[in-house]
Amino acid sequence: MKTIIGCKIIRLKETDSTNRLALSSENASLPSGTVIIAERQTAGKGRKDRIWYSEKGGLYMSILFNEIDEFGFFYKFAILAALGVKETLEKLTGDSFFIKWPNDVYFHDKKICGILLQSTTQGENNRVVVGIGININNSVSNLPDEIGEKSISLIDMTGKAYDIEEIETDILNRLNDYYKAMKKREFKTYLPTINKFLYKKGEYTEFLLGVNIRALKIIEIDEEARLIVEDRNENRLNLDFGEVL
Ligand code: BTN
Repeated sequence: MKTIIGCKIIRLKETDSTNRLALSSENASLPSGTVIIAERQTAGKGRKDRIWYSEKGGLYMSILFNEIDEFGFFYKFAILAALGVKETLEKLTGDSFFIKWPNDVYFHDKKICGILLQSTTQGENNRVVVGIGININNSVSNLPDEIGEKSISLIDMTGKAYDIEEIETDILNRLNDYYKAMKKREFKTYLPTINKFLYKKGEYTEFLLGVNIRALKIIEIDEEARLIVEDRNENRLNLDFGEVL
């Protein structure tokens, strides 16, 4: 199968948000797998309506899809995207990184990569974007304290500057392979690897479920990309993306 992810790459010096741009109506005719990359974003978006601070030195890219059969496909693909990022970062540094459900990448207790899945519907036309932000040559010391203390970048870890385009190519190659695997319904073959490196696996963690905070033990990610957790009475719950605020 030919290259899907990265079949077309649009590079920008600056935009407000590569996710917003990828989903805007002006880009409705771009082929599935198009990647929009910006050197910096002025209004980068994070999950839960947070800001994703995006100064020069990070990698900010969005992959656009416009052939959507089921959204569940992309929940799974976004986890494989986190796996791809983790593998690239490990190849570069020799250190271990972990996947925090649903799709962040962590080094110890600090976040290095966030992934934001968004979608839009215009008439018959559904589109999905998988936006990936990675802290590379941007030190988190420039971030507001409450975010900076929970974050890390490659330059903070190793003191070295990295070739961002090389990192981008390595990740996109991995994601193209994972996309092909997903098309063959092979998500579950990656579950053992994903679960082996699941952040806080086996530990009680606080979850905001609706308006309630609950301490639940993280068990594993299941075949539908849900997080299986257990309460103190060993009752199991399957959390899906929408449930955890
Ligand atoms: C998160 O962890 O909250 C998700 C962060 C996602 C950030 C990326 S950077 C590229 C793309 N464009 C955006 O505006 N957001 C995503």
